[in-house]
Amino acid sequence: MISTLQSRMLRGADGDPAPRLAYGADYNPEQWPRDVWEEDVRLMREAGVTVVSVGIFSWARIQPGPDIWDFGWLDEVMDLLHAGGIGVDLATATASPPPWLTTAHPEILPVTANGETLWPGARQHWRPTSPVFREHALRLVREIAGRYKDHPALVAWHVSNELGCHNIYDFSDDAARAFRLWLRARYGTLEALNHAWGTAFWSQRYSDWEQILPPRLAASHPNPTQQLDFKRFSSDALKDHLVAEREILREITPGVPVTTNFMVMGGTKGMNYPDWADETDFVSNDHYVHPGPQDRDELSFSANLVSGIAGGRPWFLMEHSTSAVNWQPVNVAKRPGDLARDSLLHVAHGADAVCFFQWRQSVAGAEKYHSAMVPHAGADSDLFRAVVDLGATLKTLAPVAGSEREAAAVGILYDWESWWAAEQDSHPTSLLDYRREALDWYSALLALGVRADLVTTRADLSRHQVLIAPVLHVVPAELAKDLTRYVEQGGHLVTTYFSGVVDENDHVWLGGYPGALRELLGIRVEEFGPLLAGESVELDDSTRGSLWTDQITLADGDTEVLAHYRSGVHAGRPAVTRRSTGDGSASYVSTRLGVDGLRSLLPRLLDPAGVSSELPPQARGPVELTVRRGPGGRFLFLVNRTDETVPVPGFDGEVLLGARDAEGSLVLGPREVAVLRRPAA
Ligand code: GLA
Repeated sequence: MISTLQSRMLRGADGDPAPRLAYGADYNPEQWPRDVWEEDVRLMREAGVTVVSVGIFSWARIQPGPDIWDFGWLDEVMDLLHAGGIGVDLATATASPPPWLTTAHPEILPVTANGETLWPGARQHWRPTSPVFREHALRLVREIAGRYKDHPALVAWHVSNELGCHNIYDFSDDAARAFRLWLRARYGTLEALNHAWGTAFWSQRYSDWEQILPPRLAASHPNPTQQLDFKRFSSDALKDHLVAEREILREITPGVPVTTNFMVMGGTKGMNYPDWADETDFVSNDHYVHPGPQDRDELSFSANLVSGIAGGRPWFLMEHSTSAVNWQPVNVAKRPGDLARDSLLHVAHGADAVCFFQWRQSVAGAEKYHSAMVPHAGADSDLFRAVVDLGATLKTLAPVAGSEREAAAVGILYDWESWWAAEQDSHPTSLLDYRREALDWYSALLALGVRADLVTTRADLSRHQVLIAPVLHVVPAELAKDLTRYVEQGGHLVTTYFSGVVDENDHVWLGGYPGALRELLGIRVEEFGPLLAGESVELDDSTRGSLWTDQITLADGDTEVLAHYRSGVHAGRPAVTRRSTGDGSASYVSTRLGVDGLRSLLPRLLDPAGVSSELPPQARGPVELTVRRGPGGRFLFLVNRTDETVPVPGFDGEVLLGARDAEGSLVLGPREVAVLRRPAA
């Protein structure tokens, strides 16, 4: 994966063999007259752009009718970019079907759970399971791949665009047919499906596969396992589309890497990306900041999670914004320094490319108020100057290209199945927010200056001395065994409320919660105690819990209580526990403590593992540290999270980016990023 990324994407069309960090944007020349294209290439060169993604929304332009093809303009664009030394990440253009196709075949349009059709007029109005759409899309992919297979500007293929952004859940008849096939493959027999779905409840027993439907709008809560399976199926249906396009690209251009841009950000949860990652030649991600108190923690968290999804290998930041977006209730412009810091924070977490949506800000269309590398104001603007500066910075960071994430002592387990299942309806609370809980643990670790890796269940968990698994709701028997082994081998597991409650069929583990982890944790919970919105309880370590409490009994003599409830119905009972086994331990946090509470609790959870901050005391909190490692050395990224100047004394290494003061202490200006190189040990 790394070698393809380095040999193609990081090379650019100018053929420079030295690895470097790629820099660029989505480029939509079809929105502009021909004379602008020349200026585009000139400005791209000025900015140090090495790669652009072309043709993402060009289907209607490339194929204006069923049997009409118009490649002339794209040929010219490809040639111009190549002449300018800029590589092309060429899109398969299947993201937005043209009007002639939806008019002739309205049966490709997605349908909501309520039975409403999503009409054309925006984008991504296609059913992932429509055989008609698939046929037309694959024909387009074959035409494009055949035409540009030998073009020297081509450095990678960009499948569709943000698969699932608008069409992850389709409840159409096509979806129903495909869902049944998927269920047959998963369960084999109706008997097995009836058992898994618990259809003895509410008279739901199926006697024929044809009776099964997607969980369409129903009179009350649809069957929970049906809902969970529909989420799994919907993610798989889009993965199947990705694979179908990729197979054609691999057949025609076996040497050109294939990617598709994931959306690991905010609340995007429909696509199970850890499960998609292996279907790409390198992982790409899009990220947009959602302004708010934890916004840059969230950026760091997302970038870190992408790195986990990519198995610690380098990945591609395919899109983010130079400044404001256009799709939030209020679209806030970035402040000076944000453009560079946001970009470098992604690099700190393993991105080998920094790309934006988009190159030139549109004059028309739904995204005309979305920022770009060249704003409406033109190249004579602070924004374009910042873009040029960032291009120069990325050039100086060329030695970082290709380096991988160095494992941190702390891992945070992020599990899509638990995310999906824990937030379903008909649960003890509808207020639970899986991602929020994980982000709070991450924010608390950032505040303590402790480095942590977001990891998925596919990772080698033994790389981390401490493994935090917030709301690990779905615990199949195998995972329970893995976690037990982890603790027996000296690992320190920390988990929270509503963890270990169900198996992969969303069936409750019996005998007391958290069934699958009860013995490991040495506790037993007879009843959940969710709290009302706004309600909170006090703990005897002066933290406060909200959202959830548990009625905990200690079930093992080795289990100690780290904090009790001081108020609420469980006052006097355990709130936070730890059971030690050999060198390892398993801790349980039964309430939502929030960032401040976790920050105060975490040192007690990290201590037994001997884990603490690698930063000097004054930098713990204000500075985020990440480490990448490659043949060229260990690269330490120090990111100033604050608007103040922060000194970081005692940190040696060659300064690739940043500055030291007269005493040799590294000094980070507001929102500044420094990069040090140390020899690889
Ligand atoms: C996504 C899409 C782009 C564009 C941006 C705007 O990332 O892939 O086409 O719509 O959002 O933020």
